[in-house]
Amino acid sequence: MSLSIVITSLCFCSVALAFPDIHGSVQTREEQPNGFRPISPKVFVISMFTDEGEAWYGIPEFDILAKNITVPGISPLFPQVHCTSNDDVCQVTTGEAEINAASTISSIVYSSLFNLRQTYFLIAGVAGVNPKVSTIGAVTFARYAVQVALQYEIDAREKPQGWNTGYFPQGSSSPTDYPSELYGTEVFEVNEQLRQIAISFAQTARLNDTADAKSYRALYASTKSFAPGAQPPTIIACDTATSDVYPTGGLLGDAFENTTSLFTNGSGIYCTTQQEDNATLEALLRAATTGLVEFSRIIIMRTASDFDRPYTNQTILNNLLDEFQGLEPSIENIYLAGIKVIEGILHGWANQFEAGIKADNYVGDIFGTLGGEPDFGPGSIFCRWQRQNSKEGLEI
Ligand SMILES: *[C@@H]1O[C@H](CO)[C@@H](O)[C@H](O)[C@H]1NC(C)=O
Ligand SMILES: *[C@@H]1O[C@H](CO)[C@@H](O)[C@H](O)[C@H]1NC(C)=O
Ligand SMILES: *[C@@H]1O[C@H](CO)[C@@H](O)[C@H](O)[C@H]1NC(C)=O
Ligand SMILES: *[C@@H]1O[C@H](CO)[C@@H](O)[C@H](O)[C@H]1NC(C)=O
Ligand SMILES: *[C@@H]1O[C@H](CO)[C@@H](O)[C@H](O)[C@H]1NC(C)=O
Ligand SMILES: *[C@@H]1O[C@H](CO)[C@@H](O)[C@H](O)[C@H]1NC(C)=O
Repeated sequence: MSLSIVITSLCFCSVALAFPDIHGSVQTREEQPNGFRPISPKVFVISMFTDEGEAWYGIPEFDILAKNITVPGISPLFPQVHCTSNDDVCQVTTGEAEINAASTISSIVYSSLFNLRQTYFLIAGVAGVNPKVSTIGAVTFARYAVQVALQYEIDAREKPQGWNTGYFPQGSSSPTDYPSELYGTEVFEVNEQLRQIAISFAQTARLNDTADAKSYRALYASTKSFAPGAQPPTIIACDTATSDVYPTGGLLGDAFENTTSLFTNGSGIYCTTQQEDNATLEALLRAATTGLVEFSRIIIMRTASDFDRPYTNQTILNNLLDEFQGLEPSIENIYLAGIKVIEGILHGWANQFEAGIKADNYVGDIFGTLGGEPDFGPGSIFCRWQRQNSKEGLEI
């Protein structure tokens, strides 16, 4: 490592730790010419595709289509952010998979049309679900989001003898090694206190279920380890896995369950699969480094639309292609559970949410970019460099 990098990282470690005091770049937003006031929503709902977005249109509680705001840089398929007339709630559809999610969220957080310093972000989408943990129609709230496919991959037909999967962490030589090459987006952890509050709000909802979903999940009852998959849907705390490749089947499910556990040092529970969350979180994390958003104001809600693997004696392809699993209730439940979270935040704004919900857990990425020591992974790279250099007595 060159001396100049060491100096930069040392400075950045202190900056990262001091970041909550940084507001300089944000204040200019309130001082724009022409009396223009940026929109400052209390809740920003993040949807990924049409059905998830439409779950919020035409509802009795508020009119999210009252204001349509064209934002440069967001998806050409969904070029507008939608907001209520009083700006309390906004919603965007990012487009699917990691590149669309990161590009859209970056465009919004850096747009001068918005001031998002106090905004709560509700990621509200459907997901595949692990029948060992939960079931179709369930509403899940994640603490960890793990980018499970950010790994090396050998086609499983060519995998070394004795391996259970062709996936193995970057910089490693076996699926059970902790990755030694990190890109920084492998694991994100969000505010546990806020998650518990969101769960308590969502628990006041009556969830939707359909006859199709009921009969489909009953097929998982014959396998002991899939018992949770055969139970009625609930509100549940469990984690989410991001991959651009849409994985399906028991072996990949088990491999990514192991990856989730490995990357989070045993804390993460592999429960849902989706194609965006770590990208959304990385864009929000970068904005948080300059105080444009608060990383402790993020809720990851994923409702389960389909199982990540077949029931016993069903083919993988039949499970994947079955369109009548839980999509209907999962879309309904985005609204039914999500509206309780939004109303809870709006009603409790002055008393509780405006000031923020203090996190007792580590909040941020695997690098420790926002300061503090991650409770997973090798530890903050910024503070590790600082420790190493002070040990070596480096003079700067
Ligand atoms: C906003 O756009 C939606 C279609 O996306 C439309 O239905 C609605 O009327 C528009 N709202 C306004 C105020 O123009
Ligand atoms: C992705 O984000 C989730 C939090 O939603 C976190 O648990 C997970 O570790 C992240 N994965 C990667 C690879 O960044
Ligand atoms: C996951 O880990 C368990 C326990 O180490 C192991 O038995 C299993 O074969 C692994 N599965 C895959 C697909 O890697
Ligand atoms: C799966 O199929 C085999 C062979 O037909 C049968 O013996 C077994 O009982 C089936 N298992 C379940 C859980 O249905
Ligand atoms: C669940 O939602 C579907 C529409 O997706 C609706 O037809 C059905 O009546 C709802 N069921 C309940 C119990 O609310
Ligand atoms: C997580 O596990 C890795 C690999 O065993 C280890 O190097 C690292 O120190 C652990 N991190 C924490 C925070 O326990």
